[in-house]
Amino acid sequence: MREERVGIVGVGAYLPERILTNYDLEKMVDTTDDWIITRTGIRERRIASDREAASDLGAKAAEEALKNAGLTPAEIELLICATITPDMLFPSTACFIQRKIKAKDAVCFDISAACTGYIYALNIAEQFLKNNTYKNALVIGTEKLSAITDWKDRSTCVLFGDGAGASVLRKVKNGGIISSYLASDGEQVDLLKIPAGGSRMPASFYTLKERLHFLKMEGTELFKHAVKLMAEAAEKALNRAGLSCKDVTYLIPHQANIRILQAVAKKIGLPMEKIYLNIEKYGNMSSASTAVALYETVKFKKIKKGDIIVLVAFGSGLTWGATVIEW
Ligand code: UT7
Repeated sequence: MREERVGIVGVGAYLPERILTNYDLEKMVDTTDDWIITRTGIRERRIASDREAASDLGAKAAEEALKNAGLTPAEIELLICATITPDMLFPSTACFIQRKIKAKDAVCFDISAACTGYIYALNIAEQFLKNNTYKNALVIGTEKLSAITDWKDRSTCVLFGDGAGASVLRKVKNGGIISSYLASDGEQVDLLKIPAGGSRMPASFYTLKERLHFLKMEGTELFKHAVKLMAEAAEKALNRAGLSCKDVTYLIPHQANIRILQAVAKKIGLPMEKIYLNIEKYGNMSSASTAVALYETVKFKKIKKGDIIVLVAFGSGLTWGATVIEW
């Protein structure tokens, strides 16, 4: 008999209504639609309203995932939220979501692993379910990146968007998570960060004046790491599953830059048709990116029972990882 696996039994997503196009950005900073589309693959991104925080987006995605899984909020015992744009430094965004969706019996906490957050959170939930501590878990990737974007910095403001994705996990008889690979490299903490607002550099007139509460990124350097490490993560996770790229129906990646994904595809020998892309519509949504991409492959019926999919992501930290799932 095969070892019982943990699977994703319901997915949800929420994308704010407001669309910010490259043409809108042309009016805000010195950029062009042509530069953005050719250098990144992004045409537009969603922007949350002033009334919406990460937990509002996450709660909506969670409610849809629960509905699709056929579970009530009260049946969720573990709620993990991956985010780098929490409503507040504390309490956790997971607790805000718990209150909104009324998941009163869930143990709730956030994890901070930037764009790899959703994959890290899936893996944490998988461990709790596998060892029978809990039966039903909810994993959410939610971001309001517009709140930490410097709208005067053309090198970063064209890249990011807001959104949320959620997945319900439990043990399954068929399919499920086959293998994963996670990694981190703290030597590279400076490549993508928000310098101020934490205990290292608390808010002051100086930090506000210097715009240190916005994210700062060394894009070109990150690009090189992203290609190498996303390819490595996908290959290592597949290797652990005893599978190869030939077995893969869809690689569902974090959407940071279409050129990164083209280079990853080339490196691992996977045709671009097998890489799920939605970067054009949403830009980089950090921890929500991979969760929303998975949601769309299900919604648009791109994957069916028995298909092999690979979720893969890379982000600030550095963090990177991949998960192989039989759908
Ligand atoms: O989510 C996970 C972490 N994030 C990533 O992995 C992102 C990785 N990095 C990237 O996607 C790319 O490095 C960027 C899209 C951020 C930048 O692309 P690039 O090809 O590395 O461009 P660059 O930063 O080297 O800039 C090329 C030129 C520069 O002008 P000069 O110095 O050649 O005259 C920039 O000033 O493009 C200029 N530039 C722009 N021009 C028009 C930078 N941003 C813009 C802009 N519009 N928005």
